[in-house]
Amino acid sequence: MKKLMVRGGRRLEGEVKISGAKNAALPILAATLLAEGECVIKNVPYLTDVDNIIDILRPLGMFIERQEDGSILTRVEDDSCSTATYELVKKMRASVCVLGPLLATRKKARVSLPGGCVIGIRPIDLHLKGLRALGANIEVIHGYVEAEGEKLRGAEIFLGGAFGSTVLGTANVMMAATLIEGTTIIENAACEPEVQDLANFLRKMGAKIEGAGTHRLVIEGVEKLTGTTYSIIPDRIEAGTFIAASAITQGDILIKDMRIDHLHAVIDKFREIGVEIRKVRENPETGLHDVRARGGKSYQSCDVATLPYPGFPTDLQAQISTVLTLASGISVITEKVYPDRFMHMSELNRMGASVRKEGNTAIVLGVDFLSGAPVMASDLRASAALVLAGLVARGETVIDRIYHLERGYEKIADKFAKLGVEIKME
Ligand code: UD1
Repeated sequence: MKKLMVRGGRRLEGEVKISGAKNAALPILAATLLAEGECVIKNVPYLTDVDNIIDILRPLGMFIERQEDGSILTRVEDDSCSTATYELVKKMRASVCVLGPLLATRKKARVSLPGGCVIGIRPIDLHLKGLRALGANIEVIHGYVEAEGEKLRGAEIFLGGAFGSTVLGTANVMMAATLIEGTTIIENAACEPEVQDLANFLRKMGAKIEGAGTHRLVIEGVEKLTGTTYSIIPDRIEAGTFIAASAITQGDILIKDMRIDHLHAVIDKFREIGVEIRKVRENPETGLHDVRARGGKSYQSCDVATLPYPGFPTDLQAQISTVLTLASGISVITEKVYPDRFMHMSELNRMGASVRKEGNTAIVLGVDFLSGAPVMASDLRASAALVLAGLVARGETVIDRIYHLERGYEKIADKFAKLGVEIKME
């Protein structure tokens, strides 16, 4: 099994280019199931999760191939299969976003329930509630969602639960609604940039969607969607991780081709603790930003609560927590999206951090230093947190189960190495 070795103590300096957003690429690739004709998706990162969605789409009759220029070409060749098996879905929860497109185009879907994962139970009840409201008959049996949708019609749906809106639930219902008769209104829709990106892609294929980026989506069904070319937005979580890397190493990084407007809550928090973050350039053609993040000599503690967008993203909670283990004073981190998402904390404690958990809150008492240790990655963002800790820990940190990191960070070891880190994949 691959391990990552990081030697701490280097100040990160230089430039890093942000890759395409994993969480936009996955539903957008699933949405190509809806297209008549070819789609070309650009800026799709090279990640295991992208390979996983390709593995789900091929048995569903799709021709799907990475081109020499890095873009992904897709075409529906055979629409007779509508099953996504447990063997494939269990590898990646986001596979569930084929449900909406299959129902809309093939009128039926058989998709394995994804199950929980280390960050929590993660139900899909809201996905099913939304699709049922559109008229789908859905049964959950033998671990599979069996859905039939001969008579789907637009409907008004409130899509919220105990933890607020749902990103992939919104994506599933929005995709299903594009091709059915009538108008669908999704209230309490997720407004994450990745949902907006999916809506923009669907619109480019001919869908009629209004309100993307707000909590109210209005979708008027159309008869068909046609293939198109589309470029994925940059990964805001990767950009936020590099801000954290610059912060924790007192570094100076130019983060290229990111979207500063997707990270307001994150930038605000890092500035609050003492990191200097400045937009250096905006490309008028692409709307992308180059941002300079300069770490300070020491940091203030702060309170962070994760929330749906535009709040502080849960996918950056582990990373900022790691920076706060070295801030002066006590920080209080409240996880309002995944109350159990604190697996990284016990590993950070093994490296010398002082973190205590109370319900969905972690109380972090800043310490003077972390020390390298063998640690175990438990999930994607937790792995990133351990790499960040390794960057600054005294001595060597060896991170086991690093395959989690490769699910969501493109060429991460190379990117860190270019910024001056002594890092090695073994
Ligand atoms: C997406 C992201 C993930 C991110 C999460 C929250 C992708 C591929 N993944 O996951 O990286 O951490 O958004 O920003 O885009 N919930 C229910 N019932 C449901 C669905 C969700 O109760 O049917 C709960 C979840 O358990 C969680 C909260 O709602 O507490 C938000 O989950 P959701 O937005 O659905 O996360 P994902 O879309 O799965």
